[in-house]
Amino acid sequence: MLQCADFYDAELSRHNRHLRAAANVGMHERILDIGCGAGQTTREAALIATEGSAVGVDTSAEMLEVARQRSAEAGLRNVRFELGDAQSHNFPAAGFDLCISRFGTMFFADPPAAFANIAHAIRPGGRIAWMVWQSQECNEWSGAIRQALAPGSTISEKAGKAFSLGDPLIATKLLSSAGFTSIDFIDVHEPVFYGPDVDSAVDALSHLYMVRDALSHTDGTADQPLQRLHDLLKAHMTSEGVLFDSRAWIITAVRSAG
Ligand SMILES: C[S@@+](CC[C@H](N)C(=O)[O-])C[C@H]1O[C@@H](n2cnc3c(N)ncnc32)[C@H](O)[C@@H]1O
Repeated sequence: MLQCADFYDAELSRHNRHLRAAANVGMHERILDIGCGAGQTTREAALIATEGSAVGVDTSAEMLEVARQRSAEAGLRNVRFELGDAQSHNFPAAGFDLCISRFGTMFFADPPAAFANIAHAIRPGGRIAWMVWQSQECNEWSGAIRQALAPGSTISEKAGKAFSLGDPLIATKLLSSAGFTSIDFIDVHEPVFYGPDVDSAVDALSHLYMVRDALSHTDGTADQPLQRLHDLLKAHMTSEGVLFDSRAWIITAVRSAG
């Protein structure tokens, strides 16, 4: 699980500053981080909200264990982590001023129920700043890696969830039905980083669901697909490491008073 925790922090290192700027955390704010994983964004919020607090929620006990350990190591006293599905988790009503998420809000089984539950947790006038992937077509990493591993395959429903908020019309409808207004989309065009060299990129990617899912569509002999993955990553090796084009939205919105 450590590998997974480190993977996202490295992969999204160029994205993070955009989310920080959009979230604009205040010193007194109570922040909720949805799908916080190992909690980098939760800890960053807590560091700014010195007179407030930050709560991270995730369905993965293993990721939360890493999150708690890293927060303790950082000596943070205003941050905590709760295990739960944000779709149904028992959040305090109007208990938060700001809800952030770095790629943790696209996977709900029932998005309208999840968005309503999260809206209930944010005070009227409170806000959200969620980073989500744009459409799959805008994200080179997804298609290129899948085609290298399993040529001709189409993305599974589960893996495709990563792009479920990529269409601004769909995201806007979900958010406005849940009681959000002033819905805006910030275009973030930064590469994802998979490692300083090809071998570390292959190693990092092999732990991801996306890769295991694509491999399950091959004939069971993993050597050839992994060689093709290696070749693809080599073609994406730059002076800054293995990079792929990616495109995300930061969705900002305000919880309406009504
Ligand atoms: C792509 S990872 C991002 C993790 C973290 N935000 C980061 O940027 O490092 C998505 C995270 O969302 C969590 N997640 C997925 N569905 C969830 C749900 N229904 N409720 C809470 N967390 C969820 C996963 O366990 C995973 O840790």
